[in-house]
Amino acid sequence: MSVNVSFFGNMPDGKEVRLFTIKNSNGIILQVITLGATLQALYTPDKYGRVNDITVGFDSLYGHLNFTDYQGKVVGRYANRIANGSFMMNGKKVQLTQNEKGKTCLHSAGEFSNAVWDAEPVGDNAVVLSYTSPDGASGFDGKMDAKVKYTLTEDNKVEIEYSAVSDKDTVINFTNHTYFNLSGSAMSDVLGHVLKLNAKKFTPTDEDSIPTGQLRSVFNTPFDFTNPTSIGKRIHDRDAQLVMCRGYDHNFCLDHVDGEADAVVYEPVSGRQLKVYTDLPGVQLYTGNFLDGTIIGKGGIPLIQHAGFCLETQYYPDTPNHPDFPQCTFKAGEEYKSKTTFEINVF
Ligand code: GLA
Repeated sequence: MSVNVSFFGNMPDGKEVRLFTIKNSNGIILQVITLGATLQALYTPDKYGRVNDITVGFDSLYGHLNFTDYQGKVVGRYANRIANGSFMMNGKKVQLTQNEKGKTCLHSAGEFSNAVWDAEPVGDNAVVLSYTSPDGASGFDGKMDAKVKYTLTEDNKVEIEYSAVSDKDTVINFTNHTYFNLSGSAMSDVLGHVLKLNAKKFTPTDEDSIPTGQLRSVFNTPFDFTNPTSIGKRIHDRDAQLVMCRGYDHNFCLDHVDGEADAVVYEPVSGRQLKVYTDLPGVQLYTGNFLDGTIIGKGGIPLIQHAGFCLETQYYPDTPNHPDFPQCTFKAGEEYKSKTTFEINVF
């Protein structure tokens, strides 16, 4: 195995963005860039041995800077939404940047995703990226040191390990926002991909995509992926939640079944399968609903609606305002640690 470091581009202020390329001996290639600690590309063989990139995003820095919908990016310090951009911490109101419709705080206003991280290779199959967020950034309390380690293993796993410590009490919720298309190109959408999600409940949302607080059973709804079902089978159902979000953009409450992946996605034409494992309580299934062909992705291909799917492992959205959800408040000096693994197979 090997890790190669090269130049990817320059930010508008001249700062260099680097590209890390890690290869294993089965022909899998993982690429990570220092802008947003982004998973830039993941090349994997299909059932005929043809190697393609199974992530949807941009070839160059230009795309990441001008068109991004968080393609491949790490999101922090709080991924997903916080209602009205505010919550109570130690009896005091914390007011965050309200970057979505002037109301909610989405993806912490992109702070970690738009930053150029420091990075260094580790051994022959990993890279560690680090970023320090200043006290008060996007309104959050505490200077935070964060690290993300990407490892590619010989058994075809991409492991993403997050760790972070703040010097004041704060909420912490990292994710990776990769859009996958297992066909190996964004020419076709992902509606034919077959998904199994070990989640008997999900968190329905209001019109601002904020959880209502209910943990709703998936049974007899289009949200039931407990048996393998194509993503497109019910995506156009006249279900109020689906219509409101133009598809799936919901947090599922993971059951964490022993010995099983939390999610499995299979693409029948290429034979590629992706398994997702996480220690976090939830995952956001987002089916690229807001892509509409106006932004141009890798290979000059316009990113059409549902060109990719995301499985963003996370604490539930708006957790700081829901005392009943699994909590993600960390004390000053207390370490946040979490791991998500993407495993690649072919059948
Ligand atoms: C998350 C959100 C979506 C959308 C994307 C980024 O998945 O839940 O609503 O904002 O990020 O485009």
